[in-house]
Amino acid sequence: MTTQRMTDDIDVDIDRLLPVELLEFLPCATPRRWIEAALENPALLLIDHAQCEKKAASTAMSLMFRYVDRPELLTKMSQLAREELLHFEQVVGLMQERGVDYSHIQASRYAEGLREHVAREEPDRLIDILIVGAFIEARSCERFARLIPHLDEPLAKFYRSLVRSEGRHFEDYLGLAERYGGKAAVAERVTRFAAHEKALIEGEDAMFRFHSGVPRATSP
Ligand SMILES: [Fe+2]
Ligand SMILES: [Fe+2]
Repeated sequence: MTTQRMTDDIDVDIDRLLPVELLEFLPCATPRRWIEAALENPALLLIDHAQCEKKAASTAMSLMFRYVDRPELLTKMSQLAREELLHFEQVVGLMQERGVDYSHIQASRYAEGLREHVAREEPDRLIDILIVGAFIEARSCERFARLIPHLDEPLAKFYRSLVRSEGRHFEDYLGLAERYGGKAAVAERVTRFAAHEKALIEGEDAMFRFHSGVPRATSP
């Protein structure tokens, strides 16, 4: 797992793993320095990954409580929450197999950094929350794909399965945003969030996390 393997050829293969719509949706690729930090911190990667799966389930459930009058949202979010909890169990299982202790760690600034731009008033608020969900899912999917060539086989196999489900979650969030907000309005709001997402991903970050920018330090 050397940085030498991080060639442009690998990047081309990874792009083939990801749906075109997802690659077009994300404003930039994950920086190499983040991938190096992830490989230098396998335990931290798994702990924060577990946290992200748990948070994804909890976000989906909170939408189910807030928007009871949106049947499509209720169905999609219920399915999504169950899948995220299953992912959580799978990550925790992998951590146990690998002797990684689950400790409390501080969340990355990423999700909060996106949510601070969410509209305060409805109906824009719901549309923005769904767009933020689409970014989180799309970025997770892209990061899993970029890590795969550098991982041992059991973890690579797990992350390949996650690329498929997180790609579907990205489509679900974006599909719901377009259903409730209309394609044109969503495209315009996506452009705005894309600029914030790019800054969070390419900017320097105080610490390494699953959704961090380029980490300055790699300690927990
Ligand atoms: Fe997940
Ligand atoms: Fe997901």
